Amino acid sequence: MENLLKQIKERLENEIKEIKISEDFERLEKKYFGRKGEFTIAIKSLKDLAEEQRPVIGKLANGVKKEIEELLENAKQKINPIQRKAKEFLFGFDPTLQGSKKELGHLHPCTLVLNEIIDIMSSMGFMVIDGPELESEYYNFEALNIPASHPARDMQDTYFIKTDKNFKYSEKLVLRTQTSALQVRTIEQFGAPLRAIFPGRCFRNEATDASHDNTFYQIEGLMIDKNISIANLVSVMNNILSQIFKREIKTRLRPGYFPFVEPGFELDINCLICGGEGCSVCGDGWLEIMPCGLVNPKVLEYGGLDPKEYSGFAFGIGFTRLVMMLYGINDIRLLQSGDLRFIKQF
Ligand code: DAH
Repeated sequence: MENLLKQIKERLENEIKEIKISEDFERLEKKYFGRKGEFTIAIKSLKDLAEEQRPVIGKLANGVKKEIEELLENAKQKINPIQRKAKEFLFGFDPTLQGSKKELGHLHPCTLVLNEIIDIMSSMGFMVIDGPELESEYYNFEALNIPASHPARDMQDTYFIKTDKNFKYSEKLVLRTQTSALQVRTIEQFGAPLRAIFPGRCFRNEATDASHDNTFYQIEGLMIDKNISIANLVSVMNNILSQIFKREIKTRLRPGYFPFVEPGFELDINCLICGGEGCSVCGDGWLEIMPCGLVNPKVLEYGGLDPKEYSGFAFGIGFTRLVMMLYGINDIRLLQSGDLRFIKQF
């Protein structure tokens, strides 16, 4: 019996060396461990042994079994995975089965709308400018006529970044609260005349709800030239809105205060979710979508332009809100939730 077990092990060792593909394993396993396998039969014959011999040989048989199993396992690991795949492909391929569909990614709703707006604005001669999300306090506030003591800063509480004392710039840094931060940067870089939009992500220290998030998108527009008036501002904005919504949109213009425009306005559109009746997104049926105004002469000066020679208008599209309007999304937080059930609908 002892000899028989050893022989089985030796034979198997030799056969394992010849193995190349996974089917061979199945064959070997059946040959030795199957119901009528050599090893199985040997074990069954244990019961014919003398009683005192049984525990000794039984132990030996268990040891051999373990060794054999290890041998098989090791050999399995070594099998060439490509060969295995090829074999599986040839023998496991059923051309009548339905294929598995590869899912393609797609653009986020914000990107879809942004692409459209970029098209509209570039057709009107506006260039598209990108800028830093980690912005200096100077461009985010000071250069926009919002000095440190100005109450307007309270409305835009944000994340102030601690800088190391070895940091090479003396500027204090903040996560920008508004894309307006790019106004002076752009004037400095390109001078006048100028037509540009600045789409981008902004941040505020907000308590979140259906219409507020701490991270959101704005699109700023800036046009500077000689003799720019409110008429130019209104006509460009109406043009943009009617192209975006592809229909006449009810709007209202009311006075608004922003330190970097003078005079300043709020352009509201009739809420497309509730049709103007009032809902959790708009409140009273109107949605503040485009604050705007004529560029404050101080801002032009910060940018190095002479306000006697140049004037301009600026507007800020509440871009995230616009996307919500366009798609009828009733909670701003969904847009950044990463929830596939939501995002796959676009
Ligand atoms: N940056 C302002 C905000 O986030 C919005 C704004 C107001 C932008 C008036 C403008 C403007 O360009 O003229 O509250």
